[in-house]
Amino acid sequence: MRTTTARAYPNIALVKYWGKADEELILPAAGSLSLTLNHFETTTTVVPAPDAETDVLELDGALADPGQTDRISTFLDHVRALAGRDDRVLVRSRNSVPTGAGLASSASGFAALATAAAAAFDLDLAPRDLSRLARRGSGSACRSIPDGIAVWHAGDDAASFAETVPAPDMRMIIVTVNRARKAVSSREAMRLTAATSPFYSGWVTSTEDYLEQMVAACAAGDFTRIGEITESHALRMHGLIQSTVPPIRFLNPTSHAIFDAVAEARESGIEAYSTADAGPNVAVIVRPADAEALAEKLSGFGDVRVVGPGPGAHLLTADDAVPPADAVNPAAGEGSRA
Ligand code: PMV
Repeated sequence: MRTTTARAYPNIALVKYWGKADEELILPAAGSLSLTLNHFETTTTVVPAPDAETDVLELDGALADPGQTDRISTFLDHVRALAGRDDRVLVRSRNSVPTGAGLASSASGFAALATAAAAAFDLDLAPRDLSRLARRGSGSACRSIPDGIAVWHAGDDAASFAETVPAPDMRMIIVTVNRARKAVSSREAMRLTAATSPFYSGWVTSTEDYLEQMVAACAAGDFTRIGEITESHALRMHGLIQSTVPPIRFLNPTSHAIFDAVAEARESGIEAYSTADAGPNVAVIVRPADAEALAEKLSGFGDVRVVGPGPGAHLLTADDAVPPADAVNPAAGEGSRA
């Protein structure tokens, strides 16, 4: 075993994943497609701790709470099973976005952890197997393993991985409306929707249909069709989520105002389309040439950042290792954090 460090970026789905066919294996009810960003990264270092009895997680320079530690420990059990070893590890992870705020931090988090842990346990996994492994941490994490625009296939365990598909260049404007941790996790909300919404089966079949159309639109470089599907599918997902009993709502009035402002921009000649994950923040896709002008128009709604297609998860060198919590804890001396 060895100490390793990996980096991964969040992805934002243009065809959304909402609902599982298998809770244990984290198999989706339908495929999805996303854009991996080149911003808001997670960096994770895995340090072998052969004498320790439990895994330890340091998140953003502090010891994580037991719930978060249990979740990564369960994930690490899959890595240990693949490696045929039972060593515990110390995981140090640093996010550049707030954890659990609907900016896909679980995707970048588990993609970085899968990549670092597989290498720490000397597993030499093919890209699709690394994507399958990341999927066990958080479904959408499998899409942060490949570069750029990725499709995550529905299917059985062997078939359910993500891979890059050809697509035109585009930018995404992330409008951060609220950085607070969401009240209901995606995992729990998804389960409730599948169990209670009368629209769930229609959602699954219409997602399969949209995914096929989206892959074709990407291959054809048809930005207009990509955008139409993106916005329509996002609104279908939020409609579906609101139909959960009791209802769950992730969008707030500012989110709706951003969807309206983007529709207005379209009328005035800037072609752009909105989407949102399980939170109030809105992501807008736009052609590269229009990105700065639209970002300026949206800047009144919140923190605005233009991002582009980013790289898949990758290993870094020892120089980029995440420093220990005691080195970043103010009590132990401020300022040592890189
Ligand atoms: O992978 P999870 O459990 O964080 O679920 C992600 C759900 C959405 O972000 C709302 C949709 C998606 O496809 O990413």
